[in-house]
Amino acid sequence: MLLAIPNVLSPEQVAEARKILDAAEWVDGKISAGHQGARVKDNLQLPPENPAARQVGAIIAKALATNPLFISAALPLHILPPMFNRYSGGQTFGTHIDGSIRIVPGTNHRLRTDLSCTLFFAGPEEYDGGELIIEDTYGSKSVKLPSGHMILYPSTSLHQVTPVTRGTRLCSFFWLQSMIRDNGQRGLLFDLDVAIQRLGTENATHPSVVSLTGVYHNLLRQWAEM
Ligand code: NI
Repeated sequence: MLLAIPNVLSPEQVAEARKILDAAEWVDGKISAGHQGARVKDNLQLPPENPAARQVGAIIAKALATNPLFISAALPLHILPPMFNRYSGGQTFGTHIDGSIRIVPGTNHRLRTDLSCTLFFAGPEEYDGGELIIEDTYGSKSVKLPSGHMILYPSTSLHQVTPVTRGTRLCSFFWLQSMIRDNGQRGLLFDLDVAIQRLGTENATHPSVVSLTGVYHNLLRQWAEM
């Protein structure tokens, strides 16, 4: 499931973050790429331990912690510290898959990457190219969202960023381990949650609201890994 999550950050938060990111020291993105990724990766990056990345990462983490759509869709167990990338002057990241296991920086804790997140800090009008192309079950999807919006997609997907031929594409990217490992099960829980919310809004006292809420939690209890 690919899901766009609108307004993760407000325009004010995006502006504040961009000030911090513009003043940071960017490095070649190849340093964090695996074997296959390094051959096709051409961008600049801020590693998670960079002070600017930490500062903006904290703003993102705080925003996600209270975003109901994100929580319902991702059912996050652990979120890796956000990293940042920047593409300009024809830079690109060819087709690749994100590594399945990542170490939480500064620890020996390993996380499984179930979901990949890209949060946009530049609006689509600011650059040409730079589409995130994700190969989904039913073909490839092209993603280029307004600043402050985020796309959530399964880390099992092949994906690429097309060359940025004008302006600068600025994004944060990070991964999370979900309480629900399986994309299909997680998708079902999300659909069920959305339906329960809608029913609850339209008919709050209907007895099915409580029955279905019970089904949701009992499925979560069966499937969740922690
Ligand atoms: Ni990637």
